[in-house]
Amino acid sequence: MAVADLTTSPVTSTYTKTSSRLHSSQLSLSSTRLSVHFSRSPRPIPRAQNFKITCSVNQVPAPVAVQTEEAKNKSECFGVFCQTYDLKAEEETKSWKKLINVAVSGAAGMISNHLLFKLASGEVFGPNQPVALKLLGSERSFQALEGVAMELEDSLYPLLREVSIGINPYEVFEDAEWALLIGAKPRGPGMERAGLLDINGQIFAEQGKALNAVASRNVKVIVVGNPCNTNALICLKNAPNIPAKNFHALTRLDENRAKCQLALKAGVFYDKVSNMTIWGNHSTTQVPDFLNARINGSPVKEVIKDHKWLEEEFTEKVQKRGGLLIQKWGRSSAASTAVSIADAMKSLVTPTPEGDWFSTGVYTNGNPYGIAQDIVFSMPCRSKGDGDYELVKDITFDEYLRKRIAKSEAELLAEKRCVAHLTGEGVAFCDLPEDTMLPGEM
Ligand code: LMR
Repeated sequence: MAVADLTTSPVTSTYTKTSSRLHSSQLSLSSTRLSVHFSRSPRPIPRAQNFKITCSVNQVPAPVAVQTEEAKNKSECFGVFCQTYDLKAEEETKSWKKLINVAVSGAAGMISNHLLFKLASGEVFGPNQPVALKLLGSERSFQALEGVAMELEDSLYPLLREVSIGINPYEVFEDAEWALLIGAKPRGPGMERAGLLDINGQIFAEQGKALNAVASRNVKVIVVGNPCNTNALICLKNAPNIPAKNFHALTRLDENRAKCQLALKAGVFYDKVSNMTIWGNHSTTQVPDFLNARINGSPVKEVIKDHKWLEEEFTEKVQKRGGLLIQKWGRSSAASTAVSIADAMKSLVTPTPEGDWFSTGVYTNGNPYGIAQDIVFSMPCRSKGDGDYELVKDITFDEYLRKRIAKSEAELLAEKRCVAHLTGEGVAFCDLPEDTMLPGEM
């Protein structure tokens, strides 16, 4: 049976569809043509009078749909994904796992444009895992969001079973098991760093509240929108019913960048670089740890003898890679960010290879490294592949590493003071260090 809740359909123009993607196991009448016509009503109707229209392959096509501004606030299945089918029957024949709900904010943006197709293809969760994508956009990006959903339809991904779009996080995040929070405002000309923290912080406070209210109690949250560590802290503080441990700030892109630079210098392929930790903030204070990283299983400092290069050039190259990329592209990294989000997710859903680890920004409470409590800090983690992680214990520190880590820690503590009004910790006081920046700021 195909169901279309037409009171809330994101409708922009007349739209006709057929049920060509349905498998024979899904519908007994799969050859029956299903036409659904949507069009914008000239007259909005009040919510109280909204009606639900149910259509299926053995029913008459749905009549004209109406959409009010209020209705647009609801998350709504999109196009062919409004068809329903018997997934359980599929599970029996294909041993598919239970559908997984993945919410993505900033879904009409460049990063998502790369990421969504990876998620839909099975690259992240594997070939037996059907996926539902719940896409959050804004009023302004709504048409683009429809465009994204149309491209997902046209891609005919067998694992992609549901796509819904909306602009209200309380609707879109419902039952989300993963929330990839990508949407954020970029820093505009003349905008102070504190201003960016405040504007984006408000978005993440709201999204934290929404997750707290409607998402799965064990939702895994990856914050990508900058400044991602502090945005993740704001988000988790506003979601007290979700374990703080479940919130991540994306530093996997920095890890990947560091591996690439070490491989280049050592003259090896980048798959030979392992145990790469990024410590701290996703900013120019981040610390790519060459003390504990390995190349072909040996300590980096034994392979790369130019220690001055490691301390100065390598570190700065990684810290400022995002900015250099913006200079070249004229915009922030998108494809490599999407790849790193997929990598970060894969690291949580597959067991970490023996002896190795990965970096992710996580809540510091209980960390064994002496890093200040109650911030989100990138640290080395391992996972059993169950979505959870543990911090790696046997890490070596030297004075250089400690000093650098302390700088990033001080920056995050200052960011935290600056958003106290958004974390429920009183009055904000901004004393951000002047020499620290987002990777994209030059
Ligand atoms: C990146 O690391 O590429 C981005 O976070 C840069 C930015 O500031 O947008």
